[in-house]
Formats: sequence, C-alpha cells, structure tokens
Amino acid sequence: MDISKIKLNDGQEIPAIGFGTYLIPNNGATYQAVSAALSAGYRHIDTAAAYFNEAEVGRAIRDSSVVRDQIWVTSKLWLQDYGYEAAKKGIDRSLRKLGLDNIDLYLLHQPYGDVAGAWQALVEAQKAGKIRSVGVSNMTPKYWKKLIPQFEVVPAVNQVQFNPYFQQKELRRLLFNDDVKLEAWAPLGQGNQNLMQEQTIQKLAKKYQKNAGQIILRFENQAGTIVLPKSTHIERIKSNLDIFDFKLTEDEMTEIRALDTGKGTYDPDDAANEAQLLTAINVHTND
Ligand SMILES: NC(=O)c1ccc[n+]([C@@H]2O[C@H](COP(=O)([O-])OP(=O)(O)OC[C@H]3O[C@@H](n4cnc5c(N)ncnc54)[C@H](OP(=O)(O)O)[C@@H]3O)[C@@H](O)[C@H]2O)c1
Repeated sequence: MDISKIKLNDGQEIPAIGFGTYLIPNNGATYQAVSAALSAGYRHIDTAAAYFNEAEVGRAIRDSSVVRDQIWVTSKLWLQDYGYEAAKKGIDRSLRKLGLDNIDLYLLHQPYGDVAGAWQALVEAQKAGKIRSVGVSNMTPKYWKKLIPQFEVVPAVNQVQFNPYFQQKELRRLLFNDDVKLEAWAPLGQGNQNLMQEQTIQKLAKKYQKNAGQIILRFENQAGTIVLPKSTHIERIKSNLDIFDFKLTEDEMTEIRALDTGKGTYDPDDAANEAQLLTAINVHTND
C-alpha cells in the first residue's frame, strides 16, 4: 500500500497516517500491536516518554522486516524533563529506550514550564542529527501566540486533539500562516460511539462501503491533517489504514465540517493541568 506523505516546513516528508500507542501497556502488548501495525503497512509510529512504552516500540521496529529508514518514529519529551539541561538528558533517554540512532520527530508533549529551554535542546539535537524534525503538542492558539515568537526555529508540527467534533478552526488558521502541519490525536474521538453513530458518518459509510472510522479518518486526511489512530485489534489496525481508495466530495466534507462543536475533551488552557500532569505522570519513576 502506498501511503501518501505530507511535506513539512523543514523539507522532511512524513507519512500522512501513523499508528498511535497511547495507553497500550508495556507488558508485551505494545510490541505486539506495533509489530501488527508494521505488518499491516503502517510506516509511522507515535509514542512518548509519558506512555512508558518506547522500549517496546523500538524493539518491534528493530525486529520487523521493514528497514529502519522506511519507518517514521515520533516520540515526545515529558514535563519532568523540561528546561535546557533536563531536556538534553530526556532526548538521550528516549533514544536509549527506543534503541535507535535517531528519532524522526520529537515533540514537546505539553506547553508548560521552561518550554523555551526545552525547545533549545530539541533544536540542538536536531542540528546534531539525533532528531530529524522538531515539533510541539497541545499548543492552543493562546500558547502558540505566546511561545512561538520566542522560538528561533518554527516547529514542523503541532499535535493536538482533532476530530469531527473538535476541528480546531482558530488554531488551523495560525498553523497555516506559519506553514506548520497539524497532527490529529484522538482522530477517532477515542472511540466515541456518538461520533461513530452520527447520521452523516453512517450515511457516508454506507455510500462508500466503509466503516465509520474510515470515513472519519479520510475526512481528517482530506482536511490536510496527519492522523494517528490507535487500536489493539488487528481488524481495526488494518481497516484504519485502508482509507486511500475513496474520496469524499467537497459537499460531503462540508457536511462533516458541520459536526464541529468547537470544543475538545481536554483543554490545555486549563491552569490546573501543569501541576496535575506533573504529579500524575512521572517518567523518572523507574530511574
Ligand atoms: N499529544 C498528546 O497529548 C496525545 C494525546 C492523546 C493521544 N495522542 C496520540 O494520538 C494517538 C491517537 O489518539 P487516542 O489513542 O487517544 O485515540 P483514537 O485513536 O481516536 O481512539 C482510540 C480508541 O478508539 C478505538 N478504535 C480504534 N479504531 C476504531 C475503529 N475503527 N472503530 C471504533 N473504535 C476504534 C480503540 O479501541 P481498540 O484499541 O480496542 O481497538 C481505542 O479505544 C494516541 O494513541 C497517541 O499516539 C497524543
């Protein structure tokens, strides 16, 4: 299967669909799921230090018959590693856990704390060849306007929640102006059944002989976003990738655009997040 690619502002080409690994445990399940995804044809895997499964992602990649340079690997720095010196160590820890010489895309997972210092470390790691592309995540319009003007290098992507219920209209305008691509987390609404059962989605599923997930992912792909569906079920792993043999019309895109509620299930602008996330997830627990 030939997966389309999207050109980033640094010249790199990222596969337009990636395999998400959030909440897949590190008890062999991640190894199994990523191995299945690579066999099914995915060439892009999304992990993070905060998912505690980088080691299994790396092992599945090394054990697969697909050569390393055909696989796009994304990981993310977590909050305990923010600030310049800590971030340098955090990047090296991700490389070590993944067991890879370099990471295709490395993101600042959240927009809190010493973001500027952490960003400097990412940019230097990019210059040193440890990271190919650098990006951010969960940057709302508020954070984007505040932080990006301080950055010497503009991020290649911003990975945020995006699906038909939350289409990020304001953020997308800002990203478009800065030539930055949006990566969609929760592209399937984290399995939201209301979304899957929407009349518009069901009608299009019937028309194209596809399932609801495929209609949603194709909408997001045609909207120019990079999608990262997660599943631990082989049939869904396969079907979520099988979205390139049909095309929604402009009228159908407009119908799905009308499902936008303008709100997500997680608000990075909430002032309580930073402290809560720092306490809830400690990536140094096993150091
Ligand atoms: N940067 C961030 O802060 C951030 C936050 C969240 C996620 N992410 C990334 O984005 C990826 C995707 O987001 P996500 O995992 O939260 O949500 P998602 O991909 O929208 O949804 C995953 C859920 O949907 C179910 N599912 C998968 N395919 C389906 C289908 N075809 N039909 C119906 N249900 C289906 C899965 O269940 P089964 O596994 O049982 O199939 C799982 O419960 C993550 O895995 C992670 O890599 C990033």
